[in-house]
Amino acid sequence: IHCRLIGAPVDSGRVGRGCLMGPDAMRTARLAEALADLGHDVTDMGNLSPDDVPGGDVPPHIHAYTETAGWTHALSRAARAAMADSVPIFLGGDHSLSLGSVHGVAEHAAAEGRPQFVLWLDAHSDFHTPDTTSSGNMHGTPLGYLTGRAGFPGMPDVAHPLEERNICIIGLRSVDAAEKEALQASDIRRHDMRDIDEHGIAKPLSAFLDEVSRANGALHVSLDVDFLDPAVAPAVGTTVPGGATVREAHLVMEMLHDSELMTSLDLVELNPALDERGRTAQLMVDLAASALGRRVFDRPTTRLL
Ligand code: ARG
Ligand code: MN
Ligand code: MN
Ligand code: MN
Repeated sequence: IHCRLIGAPVDSGRVGRGCLMGPDAMRTARLAEALADLGHDVTDMGNLSPDDVPGGDVPPHIHAYTETAGWTHALSRAARAAMADSVPIFLGGDHSLSLGSVHGVAEHAAAEGRPQFVLWLDAHSDFHTPDTTSSGNMHGTPLGYLTGRAGFPGMPDVAHPLEERNICIIGLRSVDAAEKEALQASDIRRHDMRDIDEHGIAKPLSAFLDEVSRANGALHVSLDVDFLDPAVAPAVGTTVPGGATVREAHLVMEMLHDSELMTSLDLVELNPALDERGRTAQLMVDLAASALGRRVFDRPTTRLL
């Protein structure tokens, strides 16, 4: 597989700072080398920068809306271009990165006449719109935008909104009242941590992967650091206790590899300023390696950093 690493130091999607250091933290934890060791061709495209977009009529209660709109334009373009000949891996950056990465890959899928599917691994549903968010943080809105909900002025037009039933969220344990209402009225597939505790993580995932395969769909995977339990992944601004274990997360990635269905990947919300000796960056790199074929017995003895 040809993997393109696309650095996107997006830090405008939330008020707190630090996600802009994410791409370099994952490079430092040897992401490119880990994927190359698995036999893949790896091209590190370096870091993108946001387009200059006119400010104008933007929701005033939203933090850095115009900058996020600029990122969305730039990321969508980069995603569409990379899909022509590679599996793009977007190195975030906060989760508002996915407004653009998923917009671009969905355009590519539409041009190929394939349905776009999205696996959203996250404690949160990120289903707000600028009209419903109470935090004012755009990282809580990508699934709202990508499904075609209204209220995103200045963002690229969503000509091919995701089908709600083609989205599967796993790991939920923090959903705001306004998005909960919208989520419950939607066809988005969702599995909260209670579900995972009771039935395990493999069953719902393999059911979803079967759907993707039956539909000959493209599959974008968006991995938010806070999908993981904060005890094993402290480097994120929005920790929520009770998250996925290291093995649950690796199993998801290993099953993704076995399915051969994943066409693009986001690694988002890593905030190195909150990390402990790089352990969260290392875990994100190891998870990406599992998604691209590393087996349990092939894990090298790693020296952190
Ligand atoms: N729902 C909350 C909000 O809108 C938290 C969103 C967290 N999103 C994330 N990508 N970590 O602010
Ligand atoms: Mn293609
Ligand atoms: Mn998120
Ligand atoms: Mn989250």
